[in-house]
Amino acid sequence: MDVADKYPGKLTLRVVLTCIMAASGGLIFGYDHGVSGGVTSMDSFLKLFFPSVYEKESHIALTSNQYCKFNSQILTLFTSSLYLSALVAGFGASNISKMFGRRAVMLIGGTCFVFGALVNGLAIAMWMLIVGRLLLGFGIGFTNSSVPIYLSEMAPYKYRGGLNMCFQLSITIGIFVANLFNYFFAKILNGHGWRLSLGLGAVPALIFVIGSLFLPDSPSSLVERGHHEECRRQLVKIRGTTHIDAEFNDIVAASEASHRVKHPWRTLLERKYRPQLIFAIFIPFFQQFTGVNVITFYAPILFRTIGFGSTASLMSAVIIGSFKPVSTFISILLVDKFGRRTLFIEGGLQMLITQIVMTIAIAVAFGTSGNPGKLPTWYAIVVVGIICVYVCGFAWSWGPLGWLVPSEIFALEIRPAAQSITVGVNMISTFIIAQSFTAMLCHMKFGLFIFFGCFVGMMTTFIYILLPETKGVPLEEMAVVWQRHPIWGKFLDKDNQKGNEEF
Ligand code: BGC
Repeated sequence: MDVADKYPGKLTLRVVLTCIMAASGGLIFGYDHGVSGGVTSMDSFLKLFFPSVYEKESHIALTSNQYCKFNSQILTLFTSSLYLSALVAGFGASNISKMFGRRAVMLIGGTCFVFGALVNGLAIAMWMLIVGRLLLGFGIGFTNSSVPIYLSEMAPYKYRGGLNMCFQLSITIGIFVANLFNYFFAKILNGHGWRLSLGLGAVPALIFVIGSLFLPDSPSSLVERGHHEECRRQLVKIRGTTHIDAEFNDIVAASEASHRVKHPWRTLLERKYRPQLIFAIFIPFFQQFTGVNVITFYAPILFRTIGFGSTASLMSAVIIGSFKPVSTFISILLVDKFGRRTLFIEGGLQMLITQIVMTIAIAVAFGTSGNPGKLPTWYAIVVVGIICVYVCGFAWSWGPLGWLVPSEIFALEIRPAAQSITVGVNMISTFIIAQSFTAMLCHMKFGLFIFFGCFVGMMTTFIYILLPETKGVPLEEMAVVWQRHPIWGKFLDKDNQKGNEEF
């Protein structure tokens, strides 16, 4: 049977609203990503929690090496520590998701985040900062393990790409709002505006928690937990048709296969899941090694290093941040038409070229010692402009696809476990980059962008050779894309190939 006849579901208002609500979980992830870099460049924050960094930064001789003035492992630990707790939560989320459903995981994640943001906003001692960061990390680990899967399971297969990418859209809006708040709050409350920047993260988290209370669980998750009738009712409502039998039966079959799997972690290591496992690891790893978070977290610090004033640095971060949601929105419109591969490859080439140009631009102007003087305005505009083009390349490719592709390629029986790996690798890679950025900048100087450029070259080749196109393939039929792939087909035994020929 033709796949469109088998799955006649429409894009209903209900599914759109449900997905937008669930995707708002990305706001909290994005808000946190965007807020920490700005806050750590605010003098009042540094004076209170990191006095030694403040001393070093404000008294460094103008003639000494500017690339190293923010180099502090303690300061970067503030940004990066969160990703370690997110890593732990990501692994815990897999069992909760299987037992209590995706929605329960979202609720726990949102609640942790509300408390984390409040503790950070009210912090008067270092331990409060640390506890707050740990709670935020738990929030992110839980949310990112559940939302992308939830979106892919709710969406009709034809619109899965676009609906899933609403998660990334929320991430980028969260980053942008955080950048904007940092800019406005930096100078208020006698220099204590950072409290507002950190504390206001509780608002999107609260919206997400309240919204999650009203969300239905996804069809696959309902069947997995034995709620077959509820799943049927849910499918009729969200697909806007009563012809849901084929989809329902496929979900039940996938769920039965899933129940036969007693040890999803061990199963994930089986040969037939090798392609899924490789993508679960490499997609998040490469996403982080595009170097995007150097810009997300540290744009203000980077700009101050190369000679911008404090306000100009925060403003530049805002300008750059505004390009991300727009680009991701473009990607939402294109992904189900042109496919994942085209966006990955175009975005990769765009990032590679801009990284090379950026290296040259910074090297020519600042050499190896940084710029102790004031930048000519036109040059500053050019540097910010190149970074914007780079960021757009990421925001319509590896940004959204880094969450979409893993959430749609895993078979149901390994889905929560594989998604936990994706979240775990994403978090550990984010941690490594966040933690080592200031030291890398100090030692590699402008060569930092070439370092990431090499990875971008590798990942674009990786996608070109290894990623099959998943556009327009229902989740339950996904096995066929691996079987047809010239390399991955070899990993699958004959039994798996039966029954998929008609697709
Ligand atoms: C990544 C984040 C990144 C953000 C930037 C997300 O997909 O996982 O690490 O900061 O995109 O747009």
